[in-house]
Amino acid sequence: MKYERTTIPPEEIARQLSICHKIFDRVTADGARPLAMVDTYGCQQNEADSEKLRGYLAEMGYGMTQDEFQADVIVVNTCAVREHAEMRVLGNVGALNHTKKAKPDQIIAVCGCMVQQEHMTEKIRRSYPIVDLVFGPHELWRFPELFKRVLDRHKRVFATEQNPGVVAEGIPRRRDGSVKAWLSIMYGCNNFCTYCVVPYVRGRERSRLPEEVVAEARELVASGYKDITLLGQNVNSYGRDLGLDVDFADLIRMINDIPGDFLIRFMTSHPKDATEKLFRTMAECKKCAHHIHLPVQAGSNRILKAMNRSYTREKYLGEIASARRWMPDLVLTTDIIVGFPGETDEDFAETLSLCEEVRYDAMFTFIYSRRVGTPAASMPDPYTREDKQKHFDALTELANRISAEKHRAYIGTKQRVLVDGETGRDEYNLSARTNGGRLVHLKGDPSLVGQFITVEIIDGNTWALYGKEAENHG
Ligand code: 5AD
Ligand code: SF4
Repeated sequence: MKYERTTIPPEEIARQLSICHKIFDRVTADGARPLAMVDTYGCQQNEADSEKLRGYLAEMGYGMTQDEFQADVIVVNTCAVREHAEMRVLGNVGALNHTKKAKPDQIIAVCGCMVQQEHMTEKIRRSYPIVDLVFGPHELWRFPELFKRVLDRHKRVFATEQNPGVVAEGIPRRRDGSVKAWLSIMYGCNNFCTYCVVPYVRGRERSRLPEEVVAEARELVASGYKDITLLGQNVNSYGRDLGLDVDFADLIRMINDIPGDFLIRFMTSHPKDATEKLFRTMAECKKCAHHIHLPVQAGSNRILKAMNRSYTREKYLGEIASARRWMPDLVLTTDIIVGFPGETDEDFAETLSLCEEVRYDAMFTFIYSRRVGTPAASMPDPYTREDKQKHFDALTELANRISAEKHRAYIGTKQRVLVDGETGRDEYNLSARTNGGRLVHLKGDPSLVGQFITVEIIDGNTWALYGKEAENHG
């Protein structure tokens, strides 16, 4: 499925920035310091998009706040992957009635995947008159222009046309942290898993040019970031649309070659095209974390086929074996959907047995959520919510037990960790991550934040490890 990618010309982004500066002059005219709030739902890609929204808002002169009563502008960046996230968004947007009553000039924008679905835009148009601006993921690059239209005309603006997707470079960013950074390497998805709405709302796969990605990674390293997560819906197919001779493994190597002490992480990988070359590259590149998030979704071949996942249980297990041969210390995490239409007790038993066999370090488990317009939405779904909940509970119990066992096996070992933040608690005031991304709580001087140190693991449970600083830093 080839299509022409739409690359937004640099002049267009420059035009958006000049609009930002006009808005700046206007909203700060009487010495005011207006405030904006960006509320983010969903995945890391959305977190990364919100950093761009904040970047634009900062250019427009807005300071940031977490208090919706203080905010002059509220942007809600939404998720469409499951109904639960959509319900939360709608509930929280509805509650903004109160803030807008208290502050009638407040501007409320709703953007992201949820509003790229026509039925949701219509719902907002009809039932949420407090919302002034609605725009989909493909329009984020021209947020300043859309926002100015609201300011100028005091009329509602909707920008959610269908679009196979754009790539825009040069949008300013206000990053959330100073230790860990998101780096989008590609956007969209071509896989059309039958349960998933993402390809419909985020468009087709399109990769950023390797030189753009590497330049951003260099900037991050130069600014002191120590943990860089490469983001894409399916990073393993990076580069395919570019027609260059650079695949995802090559990209990792290029980033690994940047001088400095930092870690490279990535998500998400699709098992249909995880290659031995990728595992070898991970093993050989010193800065690449030994962690793969490899969503299996289900353990039964019948269900995998109905999901259009393009691999079998056997192929998946073969990949895990190969990855572990290259990296015996590999940390493995996964996503699993319980209660896909028609999933029987027997199918589910195969998910349980697969999880017993793989022994994931952590599992993210979801009950199937029907998404309008996806093929699975019209498949027969005879099982009740209670049936599904029973399976879900059994899987959670298994996941928790295995995570606890795996975490307990760390006790007494020394681990090199990156201290990534303060917790605000007394006893364990710092949080850190192992190379494989496991959470470690520890006590220590706040000046350790942003440093790699060696800790001894003294305890572990389902959720985390507990450590104390070992004598040698390293
Ligand atoms: N219902 C439940 N879970 C879903 N996911 C994606 N779509 C759905 C859905 N319709 C899960 C998958 C995916 C993760 C990000 O969300 O497990 O890997
Ligand atoms: Fe959705 Fe499948 Fe694409 Fe992941 S790979 S975003 S689950 S369609």
